[in-house]
Amino acid sequence: MNILNIIDKKRLNKHLEYEELDYAFNGYLNKNIPDYQMSALLMAICINKIDDKEILDLTDIFIKSGQVLDVSAINGPLVDKHSTGGVGDKTTMIIGPIIAACGLKMAKMSGRGLGLTGGTIDKLESIPGFNVNLSIEDFLHQVDNIGFATIAQNENLVPMDKKVYALRDATATCESLGLIAVSIMSKKIASGSKNILIDVKYGKGALIKSKDDAYLFSQIAEKIGQKYNCKVKCIIDNMDMPLGDNIGNSLEVLEAIDILNGKNNYLKDLCLKLAATLISMGKDINYDEAYKLAQEAIDNKKAYEKFQEFVKAQGGDITKIRVSPYKVMVKSLKNGQIVNIDAHKIAQLARAIGCFRETKEDKIDYSLGIVLNKRLNDKVKKDDILCELYVKENYNKNIYDQAINCFEIKED
Ligand code: URA
Repeated sequence: MNILNIIDKKRLNKHLEYEELDYAFNGYLNKNIPDYQMSALLMAICINKIDDKEILDLTDIFIKSGQVLDVSAINGPLVDKHSTGGVGDKTTMIIGPIIAACGLKMAKMSGRGLGLTGGTIDKLESIPGFNVNLSIEDFLHQVDNIGFATIAQNENLVPMDKKVYALRDATATCESLGLIAVSIMSKKIASGSKNILIDVKYGKGALIKSKDDAYLFSQIAEKIGQKYNCKVKCIIDNMDMPLGDNIGNSLEVLEAIDILNGKNNYLKDLCLKLAATLISMGKDINYDEAYKLAQEAIDNKKAYEKFQEFVKAQGGDITKIRVSPYKVMVKSLKNGQIVNIDAHKIAQLARAIGCFRETKEDKIDYSLGIVLNKRLNDKVKKDDILCELYVKENYNKNIYDQAINCFEIKED
């Protein structure tokens, strides 16, 4: 077999056989195929797509690159969730503690930032001391004891996704339905839960852009689930606007803490919906009953206590979370009403501020980001603060106009 023939075949939009995918991706994992050839193959896949059979085959290859967790020693209903990715999506940090407070268990394998969307692993690492590289033994022990633990892909668990994911992020090859399905579902199957909820985001601020693609994604995710005897449920949700008020690693952790302490916004509503779905799947109870349990876990602070336990168990210290001391207040140029906050433009602004990686090797400054002070339909007066930018000391002054442009205001 020859890697150039395989790249060429996909460039010509031809179907790749299991053996060809295996040769290319395992060759990449074993360092026999360099970054530039895998990048070319990923780009050909992005442009020409992979069919259902290729997605199923590649998912299998990804899973087999590591081990599948043996979760038989975990007591209690085990569930798992994953989001397909969107701007400001911090749902895992809220849902994990809620479901743990309700007696469920979640062994969550997450990823880093991908394209214009942040990643749970980067967000959690913004908590000083937080360890996303637990041993499998410690990971399962924490899931059993506390109900919730989060780790990154590693040498034992879908190492193929760890390597390919980082390359996709640095080569603008994130937005492929097939590659997203392979990446997410391989992590979910390897994590061992038989009850999986996928939060399928589509829109300007998501990796998946259209509702039709979100449906296609759901179908293939369910098909992969069937192959591995897992119940997969998909909830499709629009993301033309950022999810919640904070964007940027530390700032998103702080907003997750606020939600667990009772802050109300659309993010909270969505988290309650997702948590209730997981609780109803795990406990086999009806949705309304499950929703009540999720709501109670926030109201009586049990979910927040779980969050604290979870962070402490993984070595983090929330009192040391740091946001940048350099702030830029972005003010409205007119009186009117906010009719749109464009999630894609917000994500580009976050990139310009420095929230994401440009190369695989980049270290991110977790303290940077954006806080939206106004929401959709809010009335604003000239000079009202629309958002606060947490920036580097020597920030590029052009970001001010870029920030103003994220808000569409209908003049009075
Ligand atoms: N989340 C993942 O884990 N992988 C993707 O490709 C997209 C979102």
